Amino acid sequence: MFRVMVEVTMRKSRLLHLVFTVFVLLSFVNGGRAGMTSKFIRSEWPSIDIPLDNEAFAVPKGHNAPQQVHITQGDYDGKAVIISWVTPHEPGLSKVWYGTSQNKYDFTAEGKVTNYTFHKYKSGYIHQCLVDGLEYDTKYYYKIGSGDSSREFWFQTPPKVDPDASYKFGIIGDLGQTFNSLSTLEHYMHGEGQTVLFVGDLSYADRYQFNDVGIRWDSWGRFVERSAAYQPWIWSAGNHEIEFMPYMEEVIPFKSYLYRYPTPYLASKSSNPLWYAIRRASAHIIVLSSYSPFVKYTPQWVWLRDELKKVDREKTPWLIVLMHVPMYNSNEAHFMEGESMRSVFESWFIHYKVDVVFAGHVHAYERSYRVSNINYNISSGDRYPVSDKSAPVYITVGDGGNQEGLAGRFRDPQPDYSAFREASYGHSTLEIKNRSHAIYHWNRNDDGKKVPTDSFVLHNQYWGNNLRRRKLKKHNLRGAGGLATTR
Ligand SMILES: *[C@@H]1O[C@H](CO)[C@@H](O)[C@H](O)[C@H]1NC(C)=O
Ligand SMILES: *[C@@H]1O[C@H](CO)[C@@H](O)[C@H](O)[C@H]1NC(C)=O
Ligand SMILES: *[C@@H]1O[C@H](CO)[C@@H](O)[C@H](O)[C@H]1NC(C)=O
Ligand SMILES: [Fe+2]
Repeated sequence: MFRVMVEVTMRKSRLLHLVFTVFVLLSFVNGGRAGMTSKFIRSEWPSIDIPLDNEAFAVPKGHNAPQQVHITQGDYDGKAVIISWVTPHEPGLSKVWYGTSQNKYDFTAEGKVTNYTFHKYKSGYIHQCLVDGLEYDTKYYYKIGSGDSSREFWFQTPPKVDPDASYKFGIIGDLGQTFNSLSTLEHYMHGEGQTVLFVGDLSYADRYQFNDVGIRWDSWGRFVERSAAYQPWIWSAGNHEIEFMPYMEEVIPFKSYLYRYPTPYLASKSSNPLWYAIRRASAHIIVLSSYSPFVKYTPQWVWLRDELKKVDREKTPWLIVLMHVPMYNSNEAHFMEGESMRSVFESWFIHYKVDVVFAGHVHAYERSYRVSNINYNISSGDRYPVSDKSAPVYITVGDGGNQEGLAGRFRDPQPDYSAFREASYGHSTLEIKNRSHAIYHWNRNDDGKKVPTDSFVLHNQYWGNNLRRRKLKKHNLRGAGGLATTR
C-alpha cells in the first residue's frame, strides 16, 4: 500500500517535472525571461560516505597490484595521456606497456614514482607516466604492474583538433564518495561520454582527520578508477582540495591533490598545475583555479590573458571554461562567492565570446541565461546583469553527491539571470556535433535512473553568428528540430 502511494506520488512529480521542463523550453523559444525553479528534490540515500570495506572501494587482487588508476590528457592537443596509479607496498615498476591491440604491447613508456606524508599517514607509491606520440582517434590498450599483479586497461584518443570534430564531454562536480556519488558515476558511465570535465571537490577526504584523510583519498582513487582508468578526467581543484590543517601541521595547500592528480599545465605554458588549458577535438578548454590569486598581474591573470589570445575559433570553435566557484549562482549556498573572480575575468569572457562556463561548489544544478554585468562600475552603470548575446551560459553542476548533501535553499524570487535551477544530484553532458551545434543535457539521478531533465541546443558563439551562419548555408546548416536553443 505504502509502496503504491509512493509510486503514484513519484509518477505525479515526474509528470509535474515534465510540465516544468516543457515550460522552460517554451519560454526559451519565445525569448521569455521567466526562470524556472524546479521543486523536485529527492535525496535517494543519506549523505554518508560508503564504508571502506564496501566493494565500491575494492582493492585489486595480487601482491602490490596497481590501484587508483586514472588518466588525463598529457599534452595540448590530445596526442598524449598521463597515466597515474598507486602501488601500496613497494615501488615496483613505473613502466607502461601499450599498443593498439589487446595483449600485444608494442611500446613502453617509463614514468616516475613519488610518495608523500600527510600527518602520520604515508602514501603508497604514486606513479605517473607520460605516454605520448599517440595517433588520433585510436584505441590503445595498456598494462601496468608486473606478473600476476599486472592490470590491463584501454582508452581512446580524441579525433584530431578540427572545427567539425564531434565529441561528447561529461561534466561532474563535487563528487565525494557516497552512494549518491556512485549513482552519479554509474549514470555517467551508462552514457557515451568520452572525457570528463571535473569542476573541483574530488574526494571530500578533508572532512576526515589525521590518517583518515589519506585513506579516503585512496578509497576515492579506487572509486573513480572504473571510469578514470579508461577515459581522461580533466581536473580542476576546489576548496576541498586546499586541506590547510594546521592542527595536524599540514599547511601546504593542495598537497594531496597535486601529488595524486597531475595536469598537463606545462603544455599550455602555465606555471602552475592548478590552471592550464587543453584542446580536444573541436574544444579549447580553459581550467581556472578559484582558490589561487587571480587579480591583475598575478601569474594566473597573466596566463589567462595570454591563453585567451591563443584561442583560434577557426580550429577550435568551442571555448569552454571550468572553475570551481560559480559566477552566477542564486542558491543561498555560496551566494556571491564568485563575485571577486567575476569582476576580474567576466569582461574577457564576453570579449572572447566564451560558449559556456562550468562550475561546481554549490550542491545543486543551475543554468543561467546569456547575461553580463560588465557595465556596472562601482560609481556608475547598470547595477544589474543584463541580457548579453556575447556572454557565456553559466552552468553549476556541483551536484555529484558528496557527504555534505544538497543545497536546497534557492533565493526567492529567482533572479532574472537564472534560467533553471533544481536541487537534485546528477551530472551533465555536452555533445558537440560540429562547429555550430552542441546538445547539452543535465541528467538528474532519479530513483536510480538517469533522467535527462534540462536539455537544449547550444549554438556556438563564434560560428553561430549571422554572418558566419550565412557563409555556412552552403553546408546546409539548419536549426535542430524539436529542441529549444540558447539564442
Ligand atoms: C618516499 O620518497 C622519498 C623521496 O621523495 C624517499 O626519500 C623515500 O625513501 C620514499 N619512501 C620510501 C618508504 O621509500
Ligand atoms: C566608471 O564610471 C565613471 C563615471 O561614469 C567613468 O568616468 C569611468 O571611466 C568608469 N570606469 C570604468 C573602468 O569603466
Ligand atoms: C551541425 O549539427 C546540427 C545538429 O546535428 C545540424 O542540424 C547541422 O546541419 C550541422 N551543421 C553542419 C554544418 O554540419
Ligand atoms: Fe566546493
